[in-house]
This record gives sequence, structure tokens and C-alpha cells, in this order.
Amino acid sequence: MPQKYTAVAPLYDLLSAEGPVYGAGRVAGIPRLRLGPGDLVVDVGCGTGLNFPLLRRAVTDTGEVVGIDASEQMLAMARRRLGEEGPNVELVAHDATALEALRAPGQAFERRRADAVLFTYALSVMVPWRSAWSGALSLARPGARIVVVDMARPVGPARLLTPLALLATHVGGSDIDAHPWTALAQQCVDVSHVALRGGHVQVWAGTWTGPRGPVA
Ligand SMILES: C[S@@+](CC[C@H](N)C(=O)[O-])C[C@H]1O[C@@H](n2cnc3c(N)ncnc32)[C@H](O)[C@@H]1O
Repeated sequence: MPQKYTAVAPLYDLLSAEGPVYGAGRVAGIPRLRLGPGDLVVDVGCGTGLNFPLLRRAVTDTGEVVGIDASEQMLAMARRRLGEEGPNVELVAHDATALEALRAPGQAFERRRADAVLFTYALSVMVPWRSAWSGALSLARPGARIVVVDMARPVGPARLLTPLALLATHVGGSDIDAHPWTALAQQCVDVSHVALRGGHVQVWAGTWTGPRGPVA
């Protein structure tokens, strides 16, 4: 799937319906990470770095943002966004379904664990998403805050917009019926949820207490 993003990377920000639809998920989701100065946050499937301004503001100059993505082209756009002012952002090119490897000697998470993990519109693109979920948790400390922002079919009157939602997720390579936040609901405590844009944008947040069994 990251290959799809190789081609669309330069146009991603333009085509991503950020203003009318998807930006709302970031604005609702990132505060639920409860970040503070000095924190380390991992943005899994960070793409072009649309979350970085909000994340950097929350962790301040003493904290760190690690953006992970498999697409070098998406990371190139993220690097461009950061320009000169991104000393506390590290970009890591890596397959999110094999994140445990980043704990190996010499890798980014050899000696540290994240205080928070964020997935925005990313888990439902990753195959299999359960591997990305468990791998990301392996980079986090017990007590870390986890936020999943992802997509579902609209409900209620917004159901009329289902064809548009299906088109957007198809173009983005996302499985709209994956509902990857089920893992968060099962494996985290202090879980909260908000549905935006007629239920199409799902924001789930929780606290990860430490290793447990596999996701059902
Ligand atoms: C829809 S974009 C979302 C980007 C960003 N999180 C956002 O909110 O705009 C999905 C991203 O997931 C990345 N991706 C898909 N599969 C991946 C994988 N297995 N490992 C790492 N990144 C992956 C793609 O390259 C793409 O940048």
C-alpha cells in the first residue's frame, strides 16, 4: 500500500480534504494524547507530517516527535514541511507492520519508549493493521496514551454521503470497515470516543497499561 503513496505524495495535502473533513480528527485527537513538555510521541504512518505542528507545539522544544512511514516520498514531503525548524522531529522510514525491529541495537527505540502513540488515517491502510498496532505498542511505555483517528461509514442523515466516503477511502487505500480502534477499546483503559462528520471520522483515545494477550 505505501507504493500508492509514492505516486500521490506531492498532491496528498491538496487532495486530502483536510479542511472540510479530516483535519477535524487531528484537532480532536491530538489533545487526547495529553502531551506535555519533554514527551516523546510517535506518529505511525505520519505521511506528509500534517500532525507535526500540533505535536511539536504540545511537546515543546524539550520533547520529541518521531514520524514513521514506509513511503520515502511521503517522508520527503514531511521533511519539506519541517524545513529548518524541525530539530526535535525524527523521521524514520520503516514498515509499520514490523515496528518491533526498531527496538534492536542501533535502532531508534533501542533505549527509549514513547509516552504517546498516534495513528491518523493510517491503521486502516496498513495490512495487517493488527501487526502495526502491536508493533507500535512495543515502542510505548506502560501508561502511554494512544490515539487512533480513522474512518467508518457515515451514519444517520450523513449516510447520504456514503458514496463519497467510500470513494475517499478507496482512493486512499483504506479499508473503511476495518474499525482498527477495536484494538484500543480492548487493550486500553480510560477509553474515550468521539465521532465527527456524521460518524465518518472516528477518534478513539486510551491509556495502554502494558503487554497483554493478542487482539481478538
Ligand atoms: C492516508 S495516509 C495518512 C497520513 C497521515 N497520518 C495523515 O494523517 O495525513 C496513510 C499513510 O500510511 C503509510 N503507510 C501505509 N502502509 C504502511 C506501512 N505498512 N508502514 C508504514 N507506513 C505505511 C502511507 O505511506 C501513508 O503515508
